[in-house]
Amino acid sequence: MEISTLSILLLALDSGVHAFDEGPFQGWFEPAPETYAGSLPVTSDLIVYHDQNPNVSRSATFKPFENAWAELGPDSVLRNAEWTWRVNVSQFYAPCNGSDVAGPSDRQAFVSQTYDFSWSAEGNISEALDGATGPLCITQLNGWADLPVNVTNAITEDTSCVPALGQACVDAILNRTPTPSLEEGCKWGGSNGVFSNMPECRGSFGLDPALSETFGVGFSLGNMTNQINSGDTFWVNMSGPVLGNETWLYETVANQIQLLLFRTLLPTSTQPNASTVPGMELLCLRANNTKLPNVDFNKDGVALVGEVVLLSAGTSTVAGVDSLMYLGLVALIVAVVLG
Ligand SMILES: *[C@@H]1O[C@H](CO)[C@@H](O)[C@H](O)[C@H]1NC(C)=O
Ligand SMILES: *[C@@H]1O[C@H](CO)[C@@H](O)[C@H](O)[C@H]1NC(C)=O
Ligand SMILES: *[C@@H]1O[C@H](CO)[C@@H](O)[C@H](O)[C@H]1NC(C)=O
Ligand SMILES: *[C@@H]1O[C@H](CO)[C@@H](O)[C@H](O)[C@H]1NC(C)=O
Ligand SMILES: *[C@@H]1O[C@H](CO)[C@@H](O)[C@H](O)[C@H]1NC(C)=O
Ligand SMILES: *[C@@H]1O[C@H](CO)[C@@H](O)[C@H](O)[C@H]1NC(C)=O
Ligand SMILES: *[C@@H]1O[C@H](CO)[C@@H](O)[C@H](O)[C@H]1NC(C)=O
Ligand SMILES: *[C@@H]1O[C@H](CO)[C@@H](O)[C@H](O)[C@H]1NC(C)=O
Ligand SMILES: *[C@@H]1O[C@H](CO)[C@@H](O)[C@H](O)[C@H]1NC(C)=O
Ligand SMILES: *[C@@H]1O[C@H](CO)[C@@H](O)[C@H](O)[C@H]1NC(C)=O
Repeated sequence: MEISTLSILLLALDSGVHAFDEGPFQGWFEPAPETYAGSLPVTSDLIVYHDQNPNVSRSATFKPFENAWAELGPDSVLRNAEWTWRVNVSQFYAPCNGSDVAGPSDRQAFVSQTYDFSWSAEGNISEALDGATGPLCITQLNGWADLPVNVTNAITEDTSCVPALGQACVDAILNRTPTPSLEEGCKWGGSNGVFSNMPECRGSFGLDPALSETFGVGFSLGNMTNQINSGDTFWVNMSGPVLGNETWLYETVANQIQLLLFRTLLPTSTQPNASTVPGMELLCLRANNTKLPNVDFNKDGVALVGEVVLLSAGTSTVAGVDSLMYLGLVALIVAVVLG
């Protein structure tokens, strides 16, 4: 292989993790849809089955909107509450109902990912938030944010983003996220949401060369269609048939940082001049907490998760990988990207 070809492959590797199209669907506050604008590649029953029987699942507890607890009313069910956030990632094989397939259409690989919360208070999420009916503004990290390995490896067993992103970056994200209002909703989007532009996040999001947006949409808790109960899926992202190496997408999704940012308005009776207090949260989790090898294969100064994940999936030690195998890996990833 000539040097110039290798450079092109390495360039492709750089942007590889950003090169996928959106999956057939992603949705907030609903499990896999029965009917879908496009056609689902597999039945929604099958998706739900695998979401409930995932290949990897991790959960951790957090104290929801602890920043606001002191200002809540005496009968608050939120104060001192503990919620559990769970991330499931499943990979499964099924015949694909569609044409965009890489191999025999009777055995395609798919990846699906879900988030759910559970809480111990009675009732739906609105009741678990002291009867809040205003906006619940929530977003997750764009699936193809490709964070450095050192940042990703720093995630611990709990939901704190601080070990990975640093306190300054966490504070910057929280402080620059607009407080929702009853009249205007979330007011998210635009330049507010680009974490990689925040100087405090230079050591994490700033190192992903392709990250250009991070914010999603907001939802109203007063909206019946957005209502969830404890344990319900509140976010799902289901892939199309996985092109190229069958496990690549699964390993990436399972190993990357999952991040949730949310804000809401909590009812209170203790404030003289306001009927609500703003609550905010930033949570991080990895479904698969295995430490990834921090090896900058393409020598561009930073090892990104997309760069190393397949390698660690296929081999137990980095030391055993020689350059021939590395070239094979690059070619494989390029095949995935171009395929
Ligand atoms: C996630 O996986 C667990 C099993 O590990 C399952 O009990 C739960 O229902 C799944 N969550 C969703 C939203 O499917
Ligand atoms: C995930 O589990 C399914 C069985 O439900 C299995 O067929 C598949 O190979 C597993 N995928 C990975 C990447 O381990
Ligand atoms: C397969 O796709 C067609 C449309 O392309 C749709 O009518 C049909 O219901 C789909 N079947 C399944 C099992 O999803
Ligand atoms: C959903 O998954 C697809 C790959 O199947 C990916 O391209 C997309 O970025 C993901 N979306 C989000 C918001 O994570
Ligand atoms: C990761 O490395 C970058 C520099 O490459 C550094 O700025 C950042 O602080 C490191 N983060 C962690 C959690 O080690
Ligand atoms: C309720 O949510 C659904 C789905 O997100 C949306 O289509 C609808 O416009 C919302 N209704 C109101 C009154 O906000
Ligand atoms: C949440 O539960 C409460 C009490 O059962 C109910 O009054 C309210 O309508 C529910 N919210 C929605 C949007 O379903
Ligand atoms: C309510 O008053 C306090 C001081 O008494 C002030 O700090 C706070 O910003 C006020 N809140 C609103 C929503 O005006
Ligand atoms: C977790 O990730 C490691 C490294 O990528 C991989 O070897 C292992 O098989 C993964 N475990 C699961 C359950 O996906
Ligand atoms: C995908 O890549 C891994 C790691 O290199 C390898 O172990 C596995 O056999 C490959 N699978 C396929 C179907 O090519």
